[in-house]
Amino acid sequence: MLEKIRETEEEISLLTADSEEVLEELRIKYLGKKGVIASLFTQFRELPPDAKRETGQLLNNLKEKASARIVELKNSLSRPGESTIIDDLTRPGDIIPTGTRHPLSIVRNEIISIFSRIGFTVSEGPEIESDNNVFTRLNFPPEHPARDMQDTFYIKRHSEEDSNINDILLRTHTSSVQVRVMESEKPPIRTISPGRVFRNEAISARAHCIFHQVEGLYIDTEVSFADLRQTLLFFAREMFGEDTRIRLRPSFFPFTEPSAEMDVNCTICGGKGCNVCKYSGWLEVLGCGMVDPAVLENCGIDSSLYTGYAFGMGIERIAMLKYQVNDLRLYFENDIRFLNQFSSAF
Ligand code: PHE
Repeated sequence: MLEKIRETEEEISLLTADSEEVLEELRIKYLGKKGVIASLFTQFRELPPDAKRETGQLLNNLKEKASARIVELKNSLSRPGESTIIDDLTRPGDIIPTGTRHPLSIVRNEIISIFSRIGFTVSEGPEIESDNNVFTRLNFPPEHPARDMQDTFYIKRHSEEDSNINDILLRTHTSSVQVRVMESEKPPIRTISPGRVFRNEAISARAHCIFHQVEGLYIDTEVSFADLRQTLLFFAREMFGEDTRIRLRPSFFPFTEPSAEMDVNCTICGGKGCNVCKYSGWLEVLGCGMVDPAVLENCGIDSSLYTGYAFGMGIERIAMLKYQVNDLRLYFENDIRFLNQFSSAF
């Protein structure tokens, strides 16, 4: 019997199979209920007890080897082994799927690229900020509604003794980064600050409590509203196409005076009127204005020498207009079927 086990082991190590059918026959021959190994086990039961120990081990070993060999042959059938590849040097390589960038990253990078071409640097700052940097230095009066608990996520201070518990918060705009830049650098300043911002809003197709902004700041001697307009026109044409037109509507922000909102002509209907532009032919894109002299002074810049402009836009909004996405929530769900549609040089 020991001889028979050794023979079978050798046979198994030499097995080959060129198709699933042959392999299945071999499996049945060796490992089937009435197969070679099963019959060896039947004989094994008749052995005297002292012979059982050694033979039992060899037999179990044989069974394991047979199963392993069958799996090995099966694998080489479904995945041609190395020898096949070496034989066929013209065989095309396996396709390795590459991911795509998130549309918000694509648009952010494109905005950065447009402004860096006209001399803007990129500055970043923390998402957890002080009330000072987000509101006070930007000329928000103490009772301004944007400070209200409904808009801002406040973070309480841990210290019990600290009476002023509401002065740490999640930034509601990246204007806070501009405050930091104005405090630490001397004009001329020409910078944009991309980043994540937070507002306590109900999530809907048009609003989210987390979104992304790029804000811009330019401070130098004799910066005028005409400079602002020309820079924004350049941006709009680079972003939405060279035929794009812009219009500036008067608006209000505590930190700019005068303030404006910029519209671009509707890229979807070409100005004829559609439900995206609410039949006006124009789409609102960003807020802007001349930096209020009080803000310059709050940040240590002499407002009798310097003037500046600032602007701020939502990346989600620009991406919605560029890609005609009608529900903002799609940007946060990470559904591969949505994300795979975007590819870009940026
Ligand atoms: N900070 C403003 C916002 O979050 C945008 C803005 C920036 C407006 C700079 C004017 C100037 O909406």
